[in-house]
Amino acid sequence: MAPVIDARGLVKRFGGRTVVDGLTIRVEQGQICGFLGPNGSGKTTTIRMLCGLLTPDAGSGTCLGLDIVRDARAIKRQVGYMTQRFSLYEDLSIEENLDFVARLYALPRRREQVAQALDRLGLRGRKDQLAGTLSGGWKQRLALAACILHEPKLLLLDEPTAGVDPKARREFWDEIHGLAAAGMTVLVSTHYMDEAERCHRIAYIAYGRLLAEGTIAEVVERSGLVTWKAEGRGVDEAARALQGRPGVEMVAPFGATLHASGTDAAALEAAIAPWREGRGLSWERIEPTLEDVFIHLMAEARNDAA
Ligand SMILES: Nc1ncnc2c1ncn2[C@@H]1O[C@H](COP(=O)(O)OP(=O)(O)OP(=O)(O)O)[C@@H](O)[C@H]1O
Ligand SMILES: [Mg+2]
Repeated sequence: MAPVIDARGLVKRFGGRTVVDGLTIRVEQGQICGFLGPNGSGKTTTIRMLCGLLTPDAGSGTCLGLDIVRDARAIKRQVGYMTQRFSLYEDLSIEENLDFVARLYALPRRREQVAQALDRLGLRGRKDQLAGTLSGGWKQRLALAACILHEPKLLLLDEPTAGVDPKARREFWDEIHGLAAAGMTVLVSTHYMDEAERCHRIAYIAYGRLLAEGTIAEVVERSGLVTWKAEGRGVDEAARALQGRPGVEMVAPFGATLHASGTDAAALEAAIAPWREGRGLSWERIEPTLEDVFIHLMAEARNDAA
């Protein structure tokens, strides 16, 4: 089966500045693909090109088998796009907002579909509440309801859970997994590591370029990063001392532990050697976390750009 998203060499420039730079991205049907990268790396811009809201300056591709440039109108009808900022009407109620969206799409069974969406996302009890008075978690739930109302085959979710509490985020993700299990394809941008870990695959971009793509295990493996963890009193002192040493690309305390990482295993071991004896710290080599890998990728991209 052809990928649901299949774009090659996408380029977007704003005022002479290239913000998406030859990006290639593929997402297979029924997959949840996490789209990650630092602020300003081009995630939103890419999503907007994929759903026909922005025309790429170069590159080509298909979304749901439709050409992202030629068939932009048709794509919009089949894609659910949840914008990074809440974009429904604050002065309409939940139900009125959904009804408005249903009219925009000229849905044939409007009332029924709105009712289903209210039930599906547990919004019925609040259906008359004005959107502007909802808390962040409820707003996101309403926004999700609005973008699945027309039964799209692909969801493009742009930081859908930013600022939402852990329980509400978990519920949101349970819903996303339920949709994917029913065949929906999802591209979702996020800055949360726990959410990245709930994706089937991830794509990591910086400066508009794809730096890593694959399952979490593949991305961690290919980074070539080696990480040591220290535990015990004195981790803060060790962290300060190790900062900037040859072989230590990054070091960060996490409460009573620290992570020190680098790609040169021997140099890293030499750097931490003085801290392994008589310092009250216990060291072990661990699998790098996804966060370790992302910070490493970001630092590499910065070096390349400089
Ligand atoms: N319409 C526009 N005009 C000019 N510059 C823009 C426009 N849209 C985005 N940019 C710039 O393009 C770059 C990429 O922005 P984009 O919003 O795609 O990043 P992002 O990865 O979504 O970031 P974030 O994680 O902060 O949401 C940024 O430097 C941004 O300022
Ligand atoms: Mg963005």
